[in-house]
Amino acid sequence: MIVPTYNERAALPGTLARLRAAVPSADVLVVDDGSPDGTGEWVDEVAASDPQVHVLHRTSKEGLGRAYIAGFRWGLARGYELLVEMDADSSHRPEDLPRLLDAACPGVDLVIGSRWVPGGRTENWPLSRSLLSRGANTYANLAIGLRVKDATAGFRVYRADTLRAIELEDVNSAGYCFQIDMTWRVRRAGGTIVEVPITFVERVEGESKMSRDIVVEALWRVTAWGAQARSRQFGGRVSQALRRRA
Ligand code: GDD
Ligand code: MN
Repeated sequence: MIVPTYNERAALPGTLARLRAAVPSADVLVVDDGSPDGTGEWVDEVAASDPQVHVLHRTSKEGLGRAYIAGFRWGLARGYELLVEMDADSSHRPEDLPRLLDAACPGVDLVIGSRWVPGGRTENWPLSRSLLSRGANTYANLAIGLRVKDATAGFRVYRADTLRAIELEDVNSAGYCFQIDMTWRVRRAGGTIVEVPITFVERVEGESKMSRDIVVEALWRVTAWGAQARSRQFGGRVSQALRRRA
């Protein structure tokens, strides 16, 4: 279980307790970007008495994507078979995790806890965030054809082999667009993606790190990927046509 944190001192304790209770066998890695509010130090204390809790301290806030890549490397180096992404603020209900893990059977490369499949929903999310999320998914599907309803979702189970098949060094997405980036990489690698409905509960403690920069990054990257995919397709058609004429 990889949980990235930046200033989650208020929200993390509750999430961690629920997580340890919901799936006692799971090891937890908190990837903290040097939170000024002492999140990292708090996890150090927990880790000292709970051998299943680990911390990766990073020196500066480099975004969700970088934190997850560091977490994946940590987990792959230690031989875990499944690597899970989850937010620290209990928006992803730890109690939903067993259903996600059940869906991660052999042959499934990526399980997404989805707000936008039948049975999935959000609780207390402002209309503006719902629209942004819906809009981002519609745009991503138009631009790069992901065939996923919730491509920005951050509650996920990856099979270790799936992550090994992806060049993690090449992933540059820093913000929440990291989730779209990874989804697209799994798609292009021919991976099987399953969406499981979840209820996403807006956080009560702490603050969201969503920002304008995160939206702008997602917009330009998805647009660029779409253009690349189209020119590749176009190039393919041209060479096919030329071959047919020859
Ligand atoms: N280490 C680290 N570094 N962690 C970070 C950073 C960072 O730069 N930025 C955010 N996080 C952590 C937060 O501390 C939290 O645990 C998790 O990433 C999600 O951040 P939130 O700020 O709570 O995100 P949100 O609730 O606005 O957004 C949710 O919806 C997005 C859109 O659907 C999340 O589920 C995102 O993953 C999702 O893309
Ligand atoms: Mn959140």
